[in-house]
Amino acid sequence: MDTHSHNEMTNSHLLVDNFDYLEASTVDEALTWLEQYDGRARLMAGGTDLIVMMKMERLTPAAIINITKIPELNETKVNLDGSMNIGPLVTIHHMGMHPHIRASFPGLAAACQSFGSTQIETMGTIGGNLCNGSPAADTAPVLLTLKAELTLSSRQGKRILPIEEFFLGPGKTSLKPGEMLVGIKLPAPQPGSTSVFLKASRVVADLAKASLAIAFTRQGERIIACRVAMGSVAPTPILLPTVAKTLIGQDFSQDLLAKAGKMAAEAISPIDDVRSSAWYRRRIANVMLQDAMNQAWRYDLEAKPAYISPSQAEGQHYLPLANTLETEHRSEIELNVNGHKTKVWVAGNELLLNVLREKLELTGTKYACGIGECSACTVQIDGKPMLSCLVLAISAAGKQITTIEGLQNPKTGELDPLQEAFIENTAFQCGYCTPGVLMTAKSLLAETTDPDEEQVRHYLRGNNCRCTGYASIVRAVLSCADHQE
Ligand SMILES: Cc1cc2nc3c(=O)[nH]c(=O)nc-3n(C[C@H](O)[C@H](O)[C@H](O)COP(=O)(O)OP(=O)(O)OC[C@H]3O[C@@H](n4cnc5c(N)ncnc54)[C@H](O)[C@@H]3O)c2cc1C
Ligand code: FES
Ligand code: FES
Repeated sequence: MDTHSHNEMTNSHLLVDNFDYLEASTVDEALTWLEQYDGRARLMAGGTDLIVMMKMERLTPAAIINITKIPELNETKVNLDGSMNIGPLVTIHHMGMHPHIRASFPGLAAACQSFGSTQIETMGTIGGNLCNGSPAADTAPVLLTLKAELTLSSRQGKRILPIEEFFLGPGKTSLKPGEMLVGIKLPAPQPGSTSVFLKASRVVADLAKASLAIAFTRQGERIIACRVAMGSVAPTPILLPTVAKTLIGQDFSQDLLAKAGKMAAEAISPIDDVRSSAWYRRRIANVMLQDAMNQAWRYDLEAKPAYISPSQAEGQHYLPLANTLETEHRSEIELNVNGHKTKVWVAGNELLLNVLREKLELTGTKYACGIGECSACTVQIDGKPMLSCLVLAISAAGKQITTIEGLQNPKTGELDPLQEAFIENTAFQCGYCTPGVLMTAKSLLAETTDPDEEQVRHYLRGNNCRCTGYASIVRAVLSCADHQE
């Protein structure tokens, strides 16, 4: 697989390179193709890391194997003892909302709610987050503290790996060529246990300057078990065993936390980079350790019953389609846009945003950054807010796509109540970000009929507006909450 390290900043509105596009409907099929391409194919889950890397020409795989239509990889299962199995395709958003994760692994839920934007959480998966191998992956520190076990599969068989053996360096993991992640297991938490995740970033919608997770068990005032891990402070997400050792067996006190905080600052090996300096990362490691322990200590630690849902994979829809498209070939796909089925010829490397704007002339959806950072290109896919600049058009075949043009009443031409509210509240100036903001806010109001201001601000945090300011946007969304179904 070629990489273009000489050109770090390439980004255009197109995916320049061609590749074979394959859709696997079983794990076996994906593994067979991985073996056939002999290291030159990449698996694609949500695509939020992969497509960005390809747009910036840091990766040029010969083939992309879309694994999102393999049903068994998209399931969560809560076992009777409270342990949990999570499929690699489960989205970050789904995990952040999952009742058992929120009750029994609150640090993991917090990590899943701290991603750059709602759209990234909706598209991105737990498997992609781990397999991308970033030192800044938000789920990694907390999974390290929870003693997660990973199941890796290849044509030669399966192996189970403790997560602390998975990360090898920036972008490097223990995955061998031809191997894929097929499951994540979280052991049941002991009574009296909890977990916490904290993240420091330049702005709320950004990767971590530093992140810290703690999982511990208490008995009265004593810490009887503890694991501490950090992200963005070393070449990989890391456990800090010396810090945990300092805390275990001790009674909780601020003096103890001060000692452990200093040890955390010494145990890491941070660097200066675009997000922060090594000096600052050491300072903040000390503070985060103390804040996290204080926060965790205040939690209600009574054992919670395991929540077992009859439909563990709720809200997931699969298509039985197994699509393959060879490099430079085009294929006719059916897109269902705003309730209309349209046939359109696409190449494997065409992005949904460009197909909507250039082939279907739906220019309401806007192009701005092209790499997932502004949310101007948000559309709904199967009712969820997604970034059309990071979606391969071919992968959207058969799904329900709604663009800003679809909000208007098709018969009367009346605007949606949310659009009216934006006009009444002067919630836009140049209007460039507005379609993306509206599509995101529509998704929020479909999920939560009566959100408060904090929820609106959190849900819209990834939608950049350079001219209006957010007060009037938030006011417009809140004014409309009662009008929604
Ligand atoms: C604007 C923006 C903001 C972001 N903010 C955050 C953030 O705040 N915190 C954070 O942690 N991350 C963040 N990310 C990174 C990214 O969204 C996450 O890492 C996400 O979870 C990746 O999941 P995905 O399904 O999109 O992965 P993909 O892009 O589909 O895949 C990522 C890598 O993993 C491999 N892969 C995927 N699934 C498997 C599997 N089952 N087995 C083997 N290999 C596999 C792929 O081949 C690829 O190399 C951000 C990204 C963007 C663009
Ligand atoms: S254009 Fe898609 S997120 Fe910026
Ligand atoms: S209204 Fe101009 S960017 Fe938001």
